[in-house]
Amino acid sequence: MRIAMIGTGYVGLVSGACLADFGHIVSCVDRDSSKIAALERGEIPIFEPGLAELVGKNVREGRLSFSTDLRAPVTAAETIFIAVGTPSRRGDGHADLTYVFQAAREIAAAVDGYKVVATKSTVPVGTGDEVARIIAEARPQLPVSVVSNPEFLREGAAIADFKRPDRIVIGAEDERARKVMTDVYRPLYLNQAPMLFTDRRTAELIKYAANAFLATKITFINEIADLCERAGADVQDVARGIGLDNRIGSKFLNAGPGFGGSCFPKDTMALMKTGHDFGVPSRIVETVIAVNDQRKRAMARKVIDVLGGNVRGRTIAVLGLTFKPNTDDMRDAPSIAVITALQDAGARVRAYDPAGIKQAKTLLDNVEYSSDPYACADAADALVILTEWDEFRALDVDRIRAKLKRPILVDLRNIYRPEEMARQDFTYVSVGRATRKQA
Ligand SMILES: NC(=O)c1ccc[n+]([C@@H]2O[C@H](COP(=O)([O-])OP(=O)(O)OC[C@H]3O[C@@H](n4cnc5c(N)ncnc54)[C@H](O)[C@@H]3O)[C@@H](O)[C@H]2O)c1
Repeated sequence: MRIAMIGTGYVGLVSGACLADFGHIVSCVDRDSSKIAALERGEIPIFEPGLAELVGKNVREGRLSFSTDLRAPVTAAETIFIAVGTPSRRGDGHADLTYVFQAAREIAAAVDGYKVVATKSTVPVGTGDEVARIIAEARPQLPVSVVSNPEFLREGAAIADFKRPDRIVIGAEDERARKVMTDVYRPLYLNQAPMLFTDRRTAELIKYAANAFLATKITFINEIADLCERAGADVQDVARGIGLDNRIGSKFLNAGPGFGGSCFPKDTMALMKTGHDFGVPSRIVETVIAVNDQRKRAMARKVIDVLGGNVRGRTIAVLGLTFKPNTDDMRDAPSIAVITALQDAGARVRAYDPAGIKQAKTLLDNVEYSSDPYACADAADALVILTEWDEFRALDVDRIRAKLKRPILVDLRNIYRPEEMARQDFTYVSVGRATRKQA
């Protein structure tokens, strides 16, 4: 099948490359000409494990191509995906649908026969109706089916998630579109991935409900972590103790600095706004957003407290800037709020991240960047782990201790064991577990 993917970002590029790998002929379109030029030179504009190889292979085998102009790809395609960004709208927090509607108008101008237009972008309930209206108004004679096909891939594991999803959700209003979408995903269907067919509005809402639920789970364990700290309990064991109950499940129960990233913050906010629009406030989601917002600066206070309440003129070394490991994505990363709060308190911040420094430089001021964890720790008053990259899990702690001015480790991802760090002569602060003071 010929497919056009409009928007070649984290979702569009991965989805396009995976669909090509299934055997479809895919054209990925982006209006960002520097992105398309890089892809045409064989460079991958984002950091995602395995993506360079997958893109390279499918380009070589003639199934994947790139363009800045959607007209030819849309005319040739049977299915057109919209995978453009839907960031928070400045000022009010609603999902900004400018890019989706712009893409819909451009698609409408280019279609010449029956097409399925499938929205992969995360969009509020009812957006598909508006996309259908835009296309029908521009081209009243043309039969176009507008489908919702929300994407659930996670950055850092995006290819595996796309190729082996827990489920594929397709919200379609007619049988013809359902058949086309079944053909698109047939290779996965053969892999036993369950396909859930719903109406369009339901599919749109499934995506927000899923993200809000996961954000709630994280926020819940974070609150329990705070209680553990005060009450002398261990949140890791609490998480394990509840997670083994398969009604609860063990995933998304890692206490930490609060959720961030390109999806949860904006999607919880958009769901809250949708609730207001429908006169059905989502009190749980509203609370999750508020609790999570306060948490990030509270994490900076943890660092300030362990340094005796004053960090003015002190150097804090930060390991990990991206919102999670194995991505270069810095959108709404907790590191931004934590570092800014430390700087507000007068600290100098030095940071290292395996992939995020380039994006961090556009978002953070006055941070000194290091080329590795040891250079980062050099003569610092404390070391803070903010993202659980694998390379931070097995640091040479003797070397780190020797580099630091004072052996203080604030581990906001709980990747080390308190007893072990105490044995190693560190003052060790983590999340939801007792602080161990240097002997
Ligand atoms: N990033 C994730 O992990 C993830 C996961 C699931 C769903 N989503 C959703 O997928 C959507 C895309 O997210 P992303 O992270 O890939 O965003 P992104 O910002 O990385 O990519 C969006 C791309 O669309 C391009 N674009 C915008 N308007 C265009 C137009 N009219 N024509 C062609 N290209 C256009 C932009 O230039 C950009 O390259 C969002 O709605 C997001 O919520 C993201």
